[in-house]
Amino acid sequence: MEKQRREELIAGALEARERAYAPYSHYAVGAALLTKSGVVYPGCNIENSAYGPSNCAERTAVFSAVARGEREVAAIAVVGKFTDGSPAGGDGFAYPCGVCRQVLAEFCSPKDFLVLLENAQGERKALTLGELLPYGFVLKD
Ligand code: THU
Repeated sequence: MEKQRREELIAGALEARERAYAPYSHYAVGAALLTKSGVVYPGCNIENSAYGPSNCAERTAVFSAVARGEREVAAIAVVGKFTDGSPAGGDGFAYPCGVCRQVLAEFCSPKDFLVLLENAQGERKALTLGELLPYGFVLKD
């Protein structure tokens, strides 16, 4: 994917993160999902006082795209940070959770789908969904 697209997706994820509703975990996540038709859909995590109904940023973006009639996705950028100033754990990248990986797999070809990550240090990482979800459960194809 060309550099300008990658920059657009990271910028979209950073912007969407500002709209995260995370009063319980204090961990804000933003996503920007590129569909094969070339449209970018934003997503943020949306938490709930009952905890269970909370939704991740990636799934917010996927569900929004599908609700607009999109069924083929090409790439997603994801960024996360603590809103209370706590340092990020591990290498600081907000890797999609297992449930979101499975949801993304429903609407893409995992070996081609790109997951773009940026941490607080401005480091970048690009992985395919196939790398993140080997042997995922699929009924299609
Ligand atoms: N979260 C995401 O939005 N995406 C992920 O892939 C992992 C976790 C959210 C869920 C919850 O609102 C917060 O991050 C802390 O788990």
